[in-house]
Amino acid sequence: MGMIEKESIVRFHRMRKNSTIRELLQETTLNPEDFIMPFFVCEDTSQEKEISSLPGVYNYSIESLKKAVHSARDVGIKAILLFGIPSKKSHNAAEAYSPKGIVQKAIKEIKQNFPDMYIIADCCLCEYTDHGHCGIVSNGSLDNDATLNILNKISGSYAEAGVDCIAPSGMMDGMVASIRHALNKKAYTQVSIMSYAAKFASAFYGPFRDAAGTDNFSGDRKHHQINPSQRSEALIETKQDINEGADFIIVKPATHYQDIIRDLSNTIKQPIVAYHVSGEYAMIKHAATAQILNERDAFEEHFISLKRSGARLIISYYAYDYLRK
Ligand code: PBG
Repeated sequence: MGMIEKESIVRFHRMRKNSTIRELLQETTLNPEDFIMPFFVCEDTSQEKEISSLPGVYNYSIESLKKAVHSARDVGIKAILLFGIPSKKSHNAAEAYSPKGIVQKAIKEIKQNFPDMYIIADCCLCEYTDHGHCGIVSNGSLDNDATLNILNKISGSYAEAGVDCIAPSGMMDGMVASIRHALNKKAYTQVSIMSYAAKFASAFYGPFRDAAGTDNFSGDRKHHQINPSQRSEALIETKQDINEGADFIIVKPATHYQDIIRDLSNTIKQPIVAYHVSGEYAMIKHAATAQILNERDAFEEHFISLKRSGARLIISYYAYDYLRK
């Protein structure tokens, strides 16, 4: 008995003893095709401008965006997610569906120059409304159904510009069915929908609101985004979005919602996309600047854990920096 204990039949260290064995056994790997790179394209800028709340993330002009997409493609990135920052905001977000809007222009330019790049466009009103809400406001409250009409118009204009995929992020009820129907009616049956189905009302969107120029908004989005405590609602809402025609499902934020990613990946077979949001990015960046952790290792650990939980794709502001090294 004592002998066997000393002999130590089980030795976990054998299987970890050098990088060769560790690499041979690595269960979860990260590849360029796992990532979607978000870009902010801004009407008001003529070059790239760093976003103060998100060090290392930029507002791009169309021209500088082309260069950034070129570099992204060079490191193997195959999909990008576009956010538009218009120079004019209005009560009804009319700039969002203008054929001359900043996102529509960007889609056309990117498609023309990089036909193989998969272009996803975020579809929400908050960057375009003067009040910063994600929808049409009438009599002081969000009008869900009036908002759907605008989302349909935005989606149609993105499709006309050549987008591959629409990502509605406003958490309006019925948004996926409404957009799918509008796209089909115009024969855009090949345009996919990536739904922000499990989007939680999170504190971790803080830096994004500065980046997207929605810091004029003084409220919260608790009446339409999911309460962080609600595990089953995320599943119910995801199933609903799939029934309405969603091709991809986003879980957002990512790292604190890995139980949701795991639940969904055990239940649905559609690709699950983890959105590693602005606050998650900024926390690592600031900690790295303070030299209390290693930036690249910390991001990698987040990404590995998201894939391990069942995410097929990861949206991250760090995608390019991660793949470039
Ligand atoms: C809404 C939208 C938001 C984000 C993506 N789309 C902000 C919000 O819901 O307030 C957040 C992304 C991030 O924090 O990185 N259009």
